[in-house]
Order: sequence, then structure tokens, then C-alpha cells
Amino acid sequence: MSKKKLMIHDLYRMKRENQRITWLTAYDFPTAQFAEAAGLDMILVGDSLGMCVYGYSGTVPVTMEQCLVHCEAVRRGAPNTFVMGDMPFMSYQVSDEEAVVNAGRFLKAANVDAIKLEGGKRVVSRIRAIADAGIIVCGHIGLTPQSSGQLGGHKAQGRTLKSAQALIEDAMAVEEAGAHLLLLEAVPPEVSGFIRRKLSIPVYGIGAGPDVDGQLLIISDMIGQFQAFTPKFVKKYANVAEVVTTAIKKYIDEVHSGAFPQDEHCYHMLEGEAEKFKDYVERD
Ligand code: KIV
Repeated sequence: MSKKKLMIHDLYRMKRENQRITWLTAYDFPTAQFAEAAGLDMILVGDSLGMCVYGYSGTVPVTMEQCLVHCEAVRRGAPNTFVMGDMPFMSYQVSDEEAVVNAGRFLKAANVDAIKLEGGKRVVSRIRAIADAGIIVCGHIGLTPQSSGQLGGHKAQGRTLKSAQALIEDAMAVEEAGAHLLLLEAVPPEVSGFIRRKLSIPVYGIGAGPDVDGQLLIISDMIGQFQAFTPKFVKKYANVAEVVTTAIKKYIDEVHSGAFPQDEHCYHMLEGEAEKFKDYVERD
């Protein structure tokens, strides 16, 4: 039996019923298939694909075209999972109109269920415009990687009273603007819990502690694939880098030693054809 896809009203019901949702990023077809088969609630096709797939040092170079291609692959792999597209840097910063057009491209090209954009008070008109166009919007505040330069690096936010108050104001502004969901990144648990109780929309967290309506992790971090650095909030559930490197080393050894390929890996000639081929070779 195929999995039942969650809709936005299911996410609201789960918040009311205190049921935590599970959320991971995915960037490709096979990972999306694994996630759906495992019963994951939501997939974010994050602009973290810039680092995790393309090897950029950050998310700023990521383009709309790259995001759309990966969203399409993920949608094909997980037709029955709530999929969210992530608006890349400069796809929504310039104007409300451009933001609506680009948000719409995620739905038209990749049939995603929602889009996410970074920022609090400063993006309320974008949130309102996209939501008014009938698109489900997820806000993203706290550590916002696209503007990490302004934040002084990839630093946790809300760790002082002043910064926590600014986050709370941002969260309220995002809800007030019509966002349907909110993601908090790298925020102290007590601040996340306060925001979760203050808002009526579901509040999810990545590095925001346990007192939120659902957890997000980057797949490449949690399966031990991304090597450059591991944020404090990541728990590694597998070591894919080790598994893959060991497999590649073994393959290299076996090709060198002749242990691969074996007879079982060969295509043999069709019945009767081998004899004919032998005669042909001998006549040559
Ligand atoms: O791109 C992404 O994966 C994200 C998460 C870091 C929240 O935006």
C-alpha cells in the first residue's frame, strides 16, 4: 500500500495533537525514494545542495535552475511525501513580483507542496505576496545561511535576551504576514519553546532543541556523507563516507588483482553461437 501524503491541514492537526513531524533534506531521486519508503513526513530540497551536491563553500551561488532540477528529481522519487522547495539567494530579495514568479516556478515545474524563504520582518511583504498567490510558505529565521555574512558567520542566534526578543518579533511578523509554517535554525531550546507556544502555525527546528513541532536535519550530515564540517546539532545515524570509500577501495584492489569480474558478471554468447564464434576465430 502506498504511503498517505500529508497535507497542510495534517501538519496543523499534528501540532494540535503534539505529534512531532520528521523532516530531512533530500536532493536526488534515490534518496527521496529511501525517505518515502522509510515513512518520513517531509522533505526539504534545501539550497544546502550547493554544499552537499555541488561542493560550493556556501548557498549563495545556488540558482533557481539547480533548485528546480533537484526538486523535480525528489518529487519523482517521493510522490507521496510533502516536498518543500527552498528559494535560493536572489530569487526573492529584489521584489514581491519576482518572489511570486519564482515561488510559482517551484510549483509549476516540480509540483512541490510548499516553498521556504529566509528572513523575518524584512521579508514580510514577500511572504504576504507569495501566500496571497495561493502558495504554502514556510518562513526561516535564526541562523539564515544566505545572510550569514551579515550575521558574522554560521552562528547560533537568540543567545542573548536582546537577540531572543528580536527572534520572537521576527517569528510573530512571519506568522502575521501569512506564513503557514516556520523553521527555526540554531536557536536555544528555551527560545524555540517560547516561540512554538506563542505561534499558532507549526514551528519546526534544525538545531533548535526538542521543544518544537518537528525536527529537520540535512541528510548529508545525518548519514555521514558531508565531510567539510559537522554542526553541533547534528547526530550522525550512519557513516556513508566510510561505507562508500571502503567499497571503492575494495573495487580498486579487486580490479588490480583480477578478482573482479568473475564468470557470474559476464554475458555469455547465446546457445550454439559460441561454437560458431570459435570456428570464426580459428579461421581468422
Ligand atoms: O538549505 C537547507 O538545507 C536549509 C536548512 C539548513 C534549514 O535551509
